[in-house]
Amino acid sequence: MKLKIKRFCHHRTPEKSTLVEYDVPLEKCTLLEALYFIKEQIDPTLTFASGCRSEVCGSCAVRVNEKEQLACGYKPKEGDTIEALSKTEIIKDLVVDHEASLKTLQRVKSWLDKPAPPQTVSAEDEKGIEKQTDCILCASCFSACPVLEADAEFLGPFALTRAYRYVNDPRCTEPKTRIDTVQEKGIWDCTLCGECTAVCPQGIDPKTDILMLRTKSVQYGYTDPSFAAGGDDMFGGGFDPGF
Ligand code: SF4
Ligand code: SF4
Ligand code: FES
Repeated sequence: MKLKIKRFCHHRTPEKSTLVEYDVPLEKCTLLEALYFIKEQIDPTLTFASGCRSEVCGSCAVRVNEKEQLACGYKPKEGDTIEALSKTEIIKDLVVDHEASLKTLQRVKSWLDKPAPPQTVSAEDEKGIEKQTDCILCASCFSACPVLEADAEFLGPFALTRAYRYVNDPRCTEPKTRIDTVQEKGIWDCTLCGECTAVCPQGIDPKTDILMLRTKSVQYGYTDPSFAAGGDDMFGGGFDPGF
């Protein structure tokens, strides 16, 4: 089976990637097994990330034929093209720097800030947050999101899904602060294209979570800025209708 891998070394060939073809004589293997075969038998300089090898840790996400996949879960096919995740800086070959994408979690205050009653989460409450809690931070959704292509400051899908998870957690004492964090470069900038949902290996649905955050935001007094812009136009820009 022939696999093409986009090789990139910032120090040796800055701004330039090279597509290299490898012949992997394995059958019914995962892409991660194929990458290890290449590294151990053909080219020890090939660089990629992995951890659990069982679709749990999220460290091996790559793009296969321009679609995000976990290398340890994907079964490669003849002629597949493998490259690093998008929207993040490539360190080398298939390894990217996740620091910038993970900082979006700080922007949405992805934590419980004050322990306060209720300290326990009922089974029913848990149902509302358990799917989002399954996120393994593989950044596949971040890589697939077209809004991040145009605006690197956009919060991106997994941070917004986390925000929704904390807003819905009965132990979160300040849900409004989370709602505040997702207004700028967040829920209203999303085009609801669903690319994030389509690539998530955990079956998480950031698009729906973003829609739910919009509904919650309206309940907290926020308005869709596109409606506000429409209102200005309706009244001739600067005109104050007096209500
Ligand atoms: S639905 Fe929104 S967050 Fe998800 S990929 Fe599309 S634009 Fe990005
Ligand atoms: S939401 Fe899904 S695709 Fe996005 S980081 Fe979490 S597990 Fe990965
Ligand atoms: S190695 Fe952990 S998810 Fe693939």
